Amino acid sequence: MSALHTKLALIAALTLSLAAVTPAPAQDPGHLPNVVILATGGTIAGSGASSTTTIGYTAATVGVDALIDAVPEIKKVANVKGEQIFQIASESMTNDHWLKLAKRVNALLALPDVDGIVITHGTDTLEETAYFLDLTVKSNKPVVLVGAMRPSTAISADGPINIYNAVLLAGSKEAVGRGVMIAMNDAINAARDVTKTNTSLTDTFRTPELGVLGYMQDNAPHFYRQSLRKHTTESEFDVSNLDKLPDVDIVYGYANINPIALDAFVAHGDKGIVYAGVGDGSLGAGIKPNLIDARKKGVIVVRSSRVGNGIVARNGEANDDELDFVVSDTLNPQKARILLMLALTNTTNTKAIQKMFYTY
Ligand code: SIN
Repeated sequence: MSALHTKLALIAALTLSLAAVTPAPAQDPGHLPNVVILATGGTIAGSGASSTTTIGYTAATVGVDALIDAVPEIKKVANVKGEQIFQIASESMTNDHWLKLAKRVNALLALPDVDGIVITHGTDTLEETAYFLDLTVKSNKPVVLVGAMRPSTAISADGPINIYNAVLLAGSKEAVGRGVMIAMNDAINAARDVTKTNTSLTDTFRTPELGVLGYMQDNAPHFYRQSLRKHTTESEFDVSNLDKLPDVDIVYGYANINPIALDAFVAHGDKGIVYAGVGDGSLGAGIKPNLIDARKKGVIVVRSSRVGNGIVARNGEANDDELDFVVSDTLNPQKARILLMLALTNTTNTKAIQKMFYTY
């Protein structure tokens, strides 16, 4: 090795060891924000057979105290309390879990000594839980959802840095009033617009076209953008007295569509259907008569799109005025389902429901 290479190697080693011992920014504990971590399970609480297991691990095995203890730096930036509200993989999240979670979040945020909440969650339905809370939390205080793509036992697990950033964000003054957020992979995304875009990469949460709200960098949030859609304290939805949400399901559009699933949902008594249509929410000949029939039976039909970006135009690919359908605007089908369920707790008037889709 040349003298230059030896010197470079030494500098690199020193930089690494300095980085390893550089503490999180010390703050006066009396002035630290109080952040509650509500743990629901997911990969962030998952464990694998070995440090190289990143697929085929078991989600939702590690408890909230172990999650907090694994990142001692958290305690230097916030006074944290952990609560294990569920311990599930997020593909098993239900409306009942959401109602329980929203009520607990609202109860905690009503306490004067709680400044913000972090919710650890599986990534598969994380965007849905975030949007549900965006519409049902009655507080300006920060609520931040966080997950991980690699289990806690993996080399380069992303959970610890994600949870650290989430706690920083939930305890920060800059995050107040911004609606429910997802903080992962150093990006801050808005609950309404973010979506999971990759089955396994750590930068899976993205807001295509509309963009991130900001970044977590150097122990602080940096905001650049704000959603204009109403949320949290401006939302008209109140779940405090609800113990059930109306049945709303999603029917996926594709070539050679078979309407049997739609008909079964209607026969089951669904109050609403979100049609994840092709393109601009187009209604193929194989499904259109069944959707019209569903509406005639009183079911609210929302035309959404499986495309993932863009506005579903009212009276574009279908005459929504004539059919008495609603369009989802830019909401993806899984989030349109959430807004429709909440809308149906207040009204069955399609004009009022359409207005909600342009408001939230
Ligand atoms: C889950 O959603 O609970 C499993 C997958 C993940 O957290 O990434």
